Formats: sequence, structure tokens, C-alpha cells
Amino acid sequence: SKVEKGGYKHFMAKEIAEQPTVLADTISAYTQEAEIRLPTGEIDFSQTNKLTLIACGTAYYACQVAKYWFEQEARLPVEVDIASEYRYRTPPVSDKSYALFVSQSGETADTLAALRYCQGKAAKILSIVNVPESSIARESDMALPILVGTEIGVASTKAFTGQLVVLASLALKAAMQRGHLDSDALAERIAALRNLPALLNQTLATEGRIEEVAKKISTAQDVLFLGRGSMFPMAMEGALKLKEISYIHAEGYASGELKHGPIALIDKDVPVVILAPADALFEKTISNMQEVMAREGKVVLITDSAGAKVASDGVWETLVMPTVDPFLAPILYALPAQLLSYHTAVAKGTDVDQPRNLAKSVTVE
Ligand code: G6P
Repeated sequence: SKVEKGGYKHFMAKEIAEQPTVLADTISAYTQEAEIRLPTGEIDFSQTNKLTLIACGTAYYACQVAKYWFEQEARLPVEVDIASEYRYRTPPVSDKSYALFVSQSGETADTLAALRYCQGKAAKILSIVNVPESSIARESDMALPILVGTEIGVASTKAFTGQLVVLASLALKAAMQRGHLDSDALAERIAALRNLPALLNQTLATEGRIEEVAKKISTAQDVLFLGRGSMFPMAMEGALKLKEISYIHAEGYASGELKHGPIALIDKDVPVVILAPADALFEKTISNMQEVMAREGKVVLITDSAGAKVASDGVWETLVMPTVDPFLAPILYALPAQLLSYHTAVAKGTDVDQPRNLAKSVTVE
């Protein structure tokens, strides 16, 4: 009913809208004053030389984002894998490595099987879950809660950004412990994290603009999402979200791979969503954007005001996001991707909360 949905048309809309509030809770559970404090006890990342992140679906893209964070901030090598591939590959597991399983439900069959494979092999079995009494939580040495409340929409939204908040907190903790972040820099990062809900609210306030763009996208056959750095997994997540609920074929690509294939698909009928905050890689991404425009692709540029100022000339649509610490940009840029998919699906009249053929939790292989 509309009451359960808090006055929203769909659970997905409600869950997108509640992100500033629920993520503020997650952030306060993982920080204390100017430090990262895990609600579940200590993890010492100076005792390991490899982190393996394993998940399915949207949670897998959260892991892909986290690889950038752990490697860049904490200098900790990270392997990321899809659970269904990992479990059957019989990969070697170092007894110094930590294995971290990310799952909203904590019940995904492949993720649970991959966890069991690592038991007795990895030094530590960690998980990030939204359901503390789930199988994955119970079978981990430590289960870190996402704390975003029940997620009902099949397409994951607030659980995804909650997973990112927990992963960002762990990466900052690891960076401190491994001597790559001093306490002043950490304090700045934590201040930026605490300011994130305000930026999420500012982004939600632009929903009307995103809806206009979504209506234009809803007639497309194919949509491409491009990004660099931590925006590359966000491009893949944006494409997943769009295909899940609007049934439009979508692919996420690393901007630098455009020339190695997807550029062949570009013509005047293909919208290309470019996730590009004005960060260190901005100019590189913009040069890829120009290659798309030269082939008449319809560019939807998602950037901040500094980016829009220099790059929005001739662009089909620009969505301007608040300026954010580049480290946290993936969490903020999840919102326009979610809202684009949501409004595209609404424009097409699909069943947003229960998309065809999909299940909220895949407990069979
Ligand atoms: C299904 C859901 C996705 C989810 C994935 C992994 O495919 O439709 O939204 O990302 O399972 O689920 P988990 O509960 O392990 O995060």
C-alpha cells in the first residue's frame, strides 16, 4: 500500500529518498569523533597483504569501487570476484589474506558457497550484510552491518550506498593502520563523510531534472554508461540498474575502453551517460566524451559545476551534481544513476519493484 511506501509510488522511490537519513545512521555507527570505529570490534589491516572481495550483482559493483579505495588509500592489493566464478575456480587462498563477502540479504547461494570455500584457508572471513541474522553473517568471523533498514525494491539502492559507506570506512581504517593516512587527513575525510547526507539531499532536490532526462532516455534501445577510476564500476552499476528495471539494453564501460569496441555502437540513437566529476581524470573522460559527440551520440554528462562550466558545450543533457571529495564521489553519483533508471522505468510503465524474471535474493544456483 501507499502507506507502507511512505507516500511514494514504489518502494524503490522510497528507498532512494531515504538514503540521506539511513546513510547518516551508518556513518554515525562507523565513526566516532575524528576516527573510524567499527560497531563490531577491531580489524587489523596491517596484518594482511591481500584482500579478496566477493559478491554478486550490485554488491559486486560495490566491491569494484572498494578496490580503488583500498589500493589507492591503503596500498592494500585487492582481488574482486563474482561469487559464481570464484567458487568453482578453486583459486589459491593465502593464509595471510582476508576474505570479505558483501551481500544485502546475506543469503545469496553463490556468495555463501564462496565464503565456505574460504573458511579454513583465509586468515579472516569478514562480511558486510544488511541482515545480521543471515547465513553469511553467521558464518563469518565478523559481520559488519549496513544498517539501512529492510530493502524491498528488487533493484538495490540504499543497501548499495550503505555497502559503500561501510567499505569506505574500512578503507580509511586500513589506510591509517598501514601508515598511508595521518590523523589530520583522516579527520578531513570523516568530516566529508559526515557532510555526505547533505549533498545527497541536494542531489535529490534535482530529481525533476533527472526525470526530464529519463523521459528522453526511455525511447532508446541501447544506453552506454562510461566512467574512469572509481566511476568505472559506477558506470557498470548504472547500466545494471537501468537494464534491471526498464529492460533497456545497457552496458557500462571504462571510458578508456571506448575505442576498443563500444564506439562501434555509437550513432544518433544511442544515449551515452558519462559519469565525470571534475577530478584528476576528468580531462581524459571528456576527451572520450568528445569522441562520442563526434559520432552524434547523445551525451548525458553527469558532473559538478566546475565540470559543467568547461565541458557542457554541445552536450545533449547535463546533470549538475554538488561538488564532493573525489574519494566519496561514487556514493554521491549512485543517486543520479538510480533516479535515471527509476524514472526511465516509470516512463516505460514497467513493474519497478518487481521486475520480470528477477528475485530480491537468489538462494538457488
Ligand atoms: C539479486 C538482486 C540484486 C542483488 C543481488 C545480490 O540479483 O536482484 O539486487 O544485488 O541479488 O544480492 P545480495 O543479497 O547478495 O546483495
